[in-house]
Amino acid sequence: MTVITSIADLRELARRRVPRAMFDYADRGSYDEITIRRNRADLEAIAFRQRVAIDVSAQSLATTIAGEPATMPVAIAPTGLTGLFYPDGEIVGARAAQAFGIPFCLSTLSICSIEDVRAAVSKPFWFQLYLMRDRDFNQHLIARAQAAQCSAIVLTLDLQVQGVRRQDLKNGLAIPPRLTARNAFEIAMRPSWALGVLFGRRRSFGNLEGRMPGATGLVTLSQWIATQFDPTVSWKDVEWVRSQWPGKLILKGVLDAEDARLACESGADAIVVSNHGGRQLDGAPSTISALPAVVEATDGRCEVLLDGGVQCGQDVLRALALGAKACLIGKSFLYALAAMGGEGVTTALDLIRKELAVSLALTGCNNVQAVDRSILFDSAPAATLTRSVVKASS
Ligand SMILES: Cc1cc2nc3c(=O)[nH]c(=O)nc-3n(C[C@H](O)[C@H](O)[C@H](O)COP(=O)(O)O)c2cc1C
Repeated sequence: MTVITSIADLRELARRRVPRAMFDYADRGSYDEITIRRNRADLEAIAFRQRVAIDVSAQSLATTIAGEPATMPVAIAPTGLTGLFYPDGEIVGARAAQAFGIPFCLSTLSICSIEDVRAAVSKPFWFQLYLMRDRDFNQHLIARAQAAQCSAIVLTLDLQVQGVRRQDLKNGLAIPPRLTARNAFEIAMRPSWALGVLFGRRRSFGNLEGRMPGATGLVTLSQWIATQFDPTVSWKDVEWVRSQWPGKLILKGVLDAEDARLACESGADAIVVSNHGGRQLDGAPSTISALPAVVEATDGRCEVLLDGGVQCGQDVLRALALGAKACLIGKSFLYALAAMGGEGVTTALDLIRKELAVSLALTGCNNVQAVDRSILFDSAPAATLTRSVVKASS
């Protein structure tokens, strides 16, 4: 493929570059995959109000996200095992985000450790935390994030139990992993991926190494992680994290208005409206459909970010119109990384930036920070009129 024009192109390249089990791990959702489909379908269903003859020559995409300046309203979402998509994937992603001027969030379950990433970048990055049963370990991770001068902790709240991605089970990406004949064949067919990743320097969960005596590799640590997700997590634990962490606290996985109110009360600086990219509660609403009620519930007390299905600048604009301050990208980032490493991530961000700029202009706006519902077709009085006229005459 010579010309990359969309995230879909990067996805297609990624499909060819990494073994099927890895591609599916990024690409697929839980159970019947209803929610992962809803994320995209509901974004696509939102129409813009096209405006003309408005001077849109003085555009600004710059904003702040959780108090930090960003060149556009997009951040990279935390994704586990990123370093298995591309050698040193987390470092490569963090560098690309830094060069672009947007936040990068490192997952607890990354291949490169907090310290590895810290040594590779000069600007602070975000660290995503799962509350594990081993609370001492949480405290240890928070201290490491602080020592690495991370600017925010993103506390993920929607993985207190694990949803099942059926395709991962079929592909042998289970705990413990199974090396199926097809996996072996897929790996053999992708020698450059195998050389870089399987024989690379970092091949395990960088942040977890040394935590369990005897558990050093991906397999043994995966077994440990599976026992660590904590179904007892409550708002008390969120308050505990708040008391341990002096920096910005972002709560990820809030999809409900009532939870959004509680999140504000817990002292969060921001929330991410997220259904984990359709990887957890199948049947949950799309994030874009949940967004307006969450924004209303927060009533300006904390910033609202959104992820789930964001694959182009138009999607970012849709989320801004419904009250999000910015979007996070998970799969779009991984496709780009798997396809072309750092160059792929920069290409993806550049595509999103250009799409956002053009779409903003065609809705008659100059500034992402001024975007509101008035750029949506449904909110235009004429749209309502047209619909009722069509209805009356049919
Ligand atoms: C392969 C993969 C791994 C993920 N790992 C994590 C993780 O370790 N921690 C976390 O909070 N969210 C994780 N997520 C969820 C993302 O942070 C984000 O919520 C989601 O990808 C957004 O939806 P999108 O993929 O449609 O952009 C992961 C998502 C993917 C696709």
